[in-house]
Amino acid sequence: MLQTFSEKNKDLIVNINGKLVHRDRAGISPFDSAVQGGDAVWEGLRLYQRRIFKLSEHLDRLRSSAVALAFAQIPTHAEITREIARTLEANAMTDGVHIRLTLTRGVKYTSGMDPRINNSGPTLIVLAEHKPPVYGNKGISLITSAIRRFPPDCMDPKVHHCNLIQSILAKIQANQAGADDAVMLDMHGFVAETNATHLFLVAGGTVMTPRCVACPEGITRATVIDLCRASTIPIQEKDLSLTEFYRADEVFCTGTMGEMVRVEQIDGRTIAWPGGGPVTARLTGLFRELTAREGTLVA
Ligand SMILES: Cc1ncc(COP(=O)(O)O)c(C=O)c1O
Repeated sequence: MLQTFSEKNKDLIVNINGKLVHRDRAGISPFDSAVQGGDAVWEGLRLYQRRIFKLSEHLDRLRSSAVALAFAQIPTHAEITREIARTLEANAMTDGVHIRLTLTRGVKYTSGMDPRINNSGPTLIVLAEHKPPVYGNKGISLITSAIRRFPPDCMDPKVHHCNLIQSILAKIQANQAGADDAVMLDMHGFVAETNATHLFLVAGGTVMTPRCVACPEGITRATVIDLCRASTIPIQEKDLSLTEFYRADEVFCTGTMGEMVRVEQIDGRTIAWPGGGPVTARLTGLFRELTAREGTLVA
């Protein structure tokens, strides 16, 4: 799955600390913490018919990640929401939009990693793009990466930070193997997630997903778990091995950028329901209904 350039995004207006600028002129300082050390947190949000799905959950996760990194200043939910609304208005965007929010520790007065050399306040970047769910309607193929996800005592995935190198290395492996994405294992060999999404399997009518130990506290993941509970579909959060995925009846991935997508192959093995199984189809339908119904009006 290779994203392509959309002409609709040619003249995007980007918001950097409240300044609205054309994408070709947008830039941040070489002294910014994101450039210097990837010292930043981020969120991906999706706009459906003028509403952002799970906006407060995303802003809560952004704030809690920034708190965990001891950012000296963090904009309020209201301030961030106002900047998102200004950006959407400047781009006349109402639907089919993905918004990448980045909050960095800000500009440093000299080069270096020490947070004490930051005294300018944080940098907030709102990048909104016309972007339908990136996987389309087809199922995807995965390979298992040799790159492991960190446990919480190395780099806790509960901090949704901008150091994406682990994921990028896994994605390179997937690209070179001709697969769409890569399964990443935790340090015990259990499945953590993919390089970009959470993984679910269905076996004997029960939906299962790895615990949030070596993967972020996914908002789409939590939504799918809630949908299962509300629809009395059995759901378990537990350690799952690759074998359990290979032999599953259905496998699917979740994430804001791609919503829900079924997995057709893992490591060359075809999953039992390659065309998409009934539980995945039911949950996908429930998810679509929810995104059409819920969300915070911003545009
Ligand atoms: C590593 C990783 N896994 C999974 C996800 C999907 O999470 P969400 O459903 O909150 O978009 C993300 C999204 O930010 C991510 O960065």
